[in-house]
Amino acid sequence: MDIKGSVALVTGANRGIGLALTQALLEHGAAKVYAAVREPETARNPRLVPLRLDVTDDEQVAAAARVADDVSIVINNAGVGGGPPLLEGSLDGARREMEVNYFGTWAVSRAFASVLATQGGGALVNMLSRESWVANKRFPGYAASKSAEWSLTNAFRLVLREQGTLVVGVHVGYVDTDLAAHIDSPKVHATDVAEQTMTGLLNDDPEVLVDETSRRVRAALSGDLDTLYADL
Ligand SMILES: NC(=O)c1ccc[n+]([C@@H]2O[C@H](COP(=O)([O-])OP(=O)(O)OC[C@H]3O[C@@H](n4cnc5c(N)ncnc54)[C@H](OP(=O)(O)O)[C@@H]3O)[C@@H](O)[C@H]2O)c1
Repeated sequence: MDIKGSVALVTGANRGIGLALTQALLEHGAAKVYAAVREPETARNPRLVPLRLDVTDDEQVAAAARVADDVSIVINNAGVGGGPPLLEGSLDGARREMEVNYFGTWAVSRAFASVLATQGGGALVNMLSRESWVANKRFPGYAASKSAEWSLTNAFRLVLREQGTLVVGVHVGYVDTDLAAHIDSPKVHATDVAEQTMTGLLNDDPEVLVDETSRRVRAALSGDLDTLYADL
C-alpha cells in the first residue's frame, strides 16, 4: 500500500496516538490528511484538514464520508477507557467503551467502505490492543470492547477482500498517552506505534504487533491459559 500521494483520515486525531499517526502520514508523503476530531475549531496544524467527527454520531459519520470522498486510508483510532471494575460501579462507562471503541469503529468502517472501493481498495486500519486477546482485571470493559473490535476488524477483512481493501489490526500494550496516564507500567511512545503502523501499511501486513508484550500474548494464544496470563 502506497502512503506517498495518498489521502488519509484519522479519527481521534487531536492527541495521543491519533496525532502521532497524522504526523507519520505527512512524513511518509501523504498528499492530504483529514484530522477527524470532535472539535475541529481547535485544530492547530495547517497541514491537516480538520473534519468534525464524533464516531458515535451517525449523522456526523455519514457527513464525514460525504465530505472526505477522496480517502484511500482510513484509520479508526478514536477510543476511550475509564469503565468500571468488574464487581462494582455503574456500567455506563463500560457501555461508553463499547459505543466508541466497537460501534464507532463499525459505523466509520461501513460508512467509508464504498469510498475506499472507489479509490481502488485502499486500507482500513483499526487501532486495537494487546487486550484484544486477553482479559484485564482492572479494565474488563475496555478489554472486552477491544476484543469485539478485533472480531469486527477480522469480519471487515473478510468482507472487504472482494474490493481489494487491506484491513490492518494494530496491537500494542501500554502507550504513553492520556488514556494510560494513570497506569504505572512500561509504555511505548505514540510515535513508535505510528511508525510501525506506516511500516505495516507499506508491507501490506494485516496485523501489526508493535511491542514485545503484544507479540508474547499473540504467540501464547495457542498455549494453555496459565502461560497466556503468566505476567498479566
Ligand atoms: N494508550 C494506550 O495504552 C493504548 C494501548 C492500546 C491501544 N490503544 C488505542 O489507541 C487509540 C488511541 O488511544 P490514545 O492512547 O491515543 O488515547 P487518548 O490520548 O485518550 O486519545 C483518545 C482520542 O480519541 C478521541 N475520542 C474519544 N471519544 C471519541 C468519539 N466519540 N468520537 C471521536 N473521537 C473520540 C479523543 O478525542 P477528544 O480529545 O475529543 O476526547 C482523542 O483524540 C484508542 O483506540 C485506544 O484504545 C491505546
